[in-house]
Amino acid sequence: LTGPKEAQSEEGKVSAVKRQHLIEGNVTKDLVRAQAEKQAKKAKLPPKPVKKVVNFSENGEQTVTTDAPLRHPNSKVALNAKKASLQAQREALPCYEARQALVDAIMANRTTVIVGETGSGKTTQIPQFLHDAGLTKNGMIAITQPRRVAALSIAKRVAEEMGTRLGDKVGYSIRFDDTTAATTKIKYMTDGMLLRELLSDRKLSKYSVIILDEAHERTLRTDVLFGMVKGIQRERQDLKIIVMSATLNAERFSEYFDRAEILYVQGRQFPVRTFVPATQLEDYVDAALVTTFQLHQEQPKGDFLVFLTGQEEIDNLQKLMEEQARDLPPNCPKLLVCPIYAKLPTDQQTRVFEPAPPGTRKVILSTNVAETSITISGIRYVIDTGVSKVRSFNAKTGMESLTVQPISKASAQQRAGRAGREAAGFCYRLYPEPAYRSLREETEPEIMRCNLAAVVLMLKASGVEDVVGFDYMDKPARTSIVRALEQLYALGALSDDGTLSPLGQKMAELPLDPVYSKVLLQSVTYKCTKEVLTIIAMLSVDLVFYSPPDKREQAGAAKKRFMNYDGDHLTLLNVYQSYQEVAGDPAWCADNFVSARSLKQVAEIRKQLVAFTARQGIDANVSCGTDNYEAVLKCFLSGCFQNVAMRTPDGSYKTLVGNQAVYIHPSSVLFLKKPDAVVYNELMHTSKQYMRNISIIYPPWLLDVAPQYYGRAAARSTV
Ligand code: CDP
Ligand code: MG
Repeated sequence: LTGPKEAQSEEGKVSAVKRQHLIEGNVTKDLVRAQAEKQAKKAKLPPKPVKKVVNFSENGEQTVTTDAPLRHPNSKVALNAKKASLQAQREALPCYEARQALVDAIMANRTTVIVGETGSGKTTQIPQFLHDAGLTKNGMIAITQPRRVAALSIAKRVAEEMGTRLGDKVGYSIRFDDTTAATTKIKYMTDGMLLRELLSDRKLSKYSVIILDEAHERTLRTDVLFGMVKGIQRERQDLKIIVMSATLNAERFSEYFDRAEILYVQGRQFPVRTFVPATQLEDYVDAALVTTFQLHQEQPKGDFLVFLTGQEEIDNLQKLMEEQARDLPPNCPKLLVCPIYAKLPTDQQTRVFEPAPPGTRKVILSTNVAETSITISGIRYVIDTGVSKVRSFNAKTGMESLTVQPISKASAQQRAGRAGREAAGFCYRLYPEPAYRSLREETEPEIMRCNLAAVVLMLKASGVEDVVGFDYMDKPARTSIVRALEQLYALGALSDDGTLSPLGQKMAELPLDPVYSKVLLQSVTYKCTKEVLTIIAMLSVDLVFYSPPDKREQAGAAKKRFMNYDGDHLTLLNVYQSYQEVAGDPAWCADNFVSARSLKQVAEIRKQLVAFTARQGIDANVSCGTDNYEAVLKCFLSGCFQNVAMRTPDGSYKTLVGNQAVYIHPSSVLFLKKPDAVVYNELMHTSKQYMRNISIIYPPWLLDVAPQYYGRAAARSTV
């Protein structure tokens, strides 16, 4: 293999790339495109295809672990992964070599910190070693993952390696889906699920070993688990804690766990050469599209891994790539596009792990999940957009929103490293060197930047009274904790003395954000549980409607048929009801431009929610009928009363809480209508703060549904 040819490709060598803008909620560019199309129509000319290439140059950076040999001693085994038996693949992993040392150290210590490069076998192998060493005789091994896709796909893999059925000796437990049984010894689960188990079992007595994996990610829930399991271990001498991380800075974890021993598993990483553009590229999705086709036609074989931010972006790019792949010259290898993200239905998640057919190059479009949580073999080229979607929270205004933000240097290095697992690889950053240098060193722990209401509720329900004095690894700002307490109090989850109310107890038991737990519980009073269950399930998938660039008009017309003039909540309800009438017919979904994939998942989530409500003695069939939808909106408002915005004279909106400027997202059915007052489901920050999933409300309702909040606020303002 030779390195990439000099990056500057002559014009015309690369087939003309149709310029397509695909933006996730980026209106400005939508408008620009619409205008361009309009002008082209006026002039009776087709829009001009723009020839585009991205010029990369090598930046001299090489991602190689300092102590790693440059030749993979088992590279043949790894490259012929498919042919080699599972056992041979296991034995080729760095963790396998270190097996005895790992087991000995874990046996000798109550807490161990294990550091090893991504793909070295920490997650799949170590639980099996401990099982073989007899540690499951008196309890299960729990391995937590920040992401559901990882928990599920890794459990599948380990079941295969152990020659057992998934759900027997090895299982997984994620929200809305649990495959474990009484026979389960090794349980992969999301960090959120282990927290939930604390509600009914405060000592986690089912487990002999708790492995907190992907610790370097510092997700909110893993951070809370650090404190919880540390506390439990003081009372349970027999409990072993293992913290696993893919990055080197493990001292923090060791310090926190009373100077626990740190074990380093020596990695095997091939050199990765990094290429960067000279200037900032205008649109990273467009750049990813152009770069993929450019490299595909220039570079020798090896699969591509493209890092993106979320489902909508990935789905759009997949469609564009598949479209463009049809125009590839006949002598060019085929391109197979495989998406991977949390909400992808499970049957499709396994596709990314299957090798591409001969003569085909696989392009994996992934969220952050492929950064350190899962390893996919065959990747030689990484295309890094340099961004990811994160949740951020402003403790002053009480607003939480999803934003696409630059990643950290540590993340950029991890991403590059994914190209050098099996042979020397190449990483193409879609951002120039100065942009890289300006990145922060590490990702800020999530606990420092998100709404803590769900966690505080969980802590309270697990018996932690003093949520301010809790043993956090990094203590969140006091104002964030106080905000969370206030919100829970306003929702009725806490009593006047700050202890959990009976309503709060019930809310903690539902697998939902406190706001939606409240909505669901209130639906009994408003007699609309059936409708509310559907809408909550619909809101929990990212993308219901889609609109292919060449069929925007038809898609728009189809969406109108479901439209309810009171807003998106009831529009979503209409979609699901119609979907049920046709028994989930995929052809109907295609005709109506709604995602069959998402709706199938909605049906699944709804079923799970029904099971949860049944446990609380709630009748899921109580319905308000079709002429009393006001009840549904009031019910949502009874939980989302802090998510209200009022129109200002210039047509923009101001939030009632925090008085911030926000705008209606163009995907909303209320985009043109601009009602006086709205309740919104979430805020998303792209070029502006957009409200997504919005319905009309009448301000006097606020006093009805949240007197404890607005009643007092009103009283306060009159004083
Ligand atoms: O946890 P860590 O990143 O250290 O590695 P791992 O997730 O245990 O993965 C070890 C190996 O298992 C990798 O080389 C993966 O390619 C392989 N694996 C796989 O082939 N299919 C899966 N579904 C999961 C892992
Ligand atoms: Mg892992």
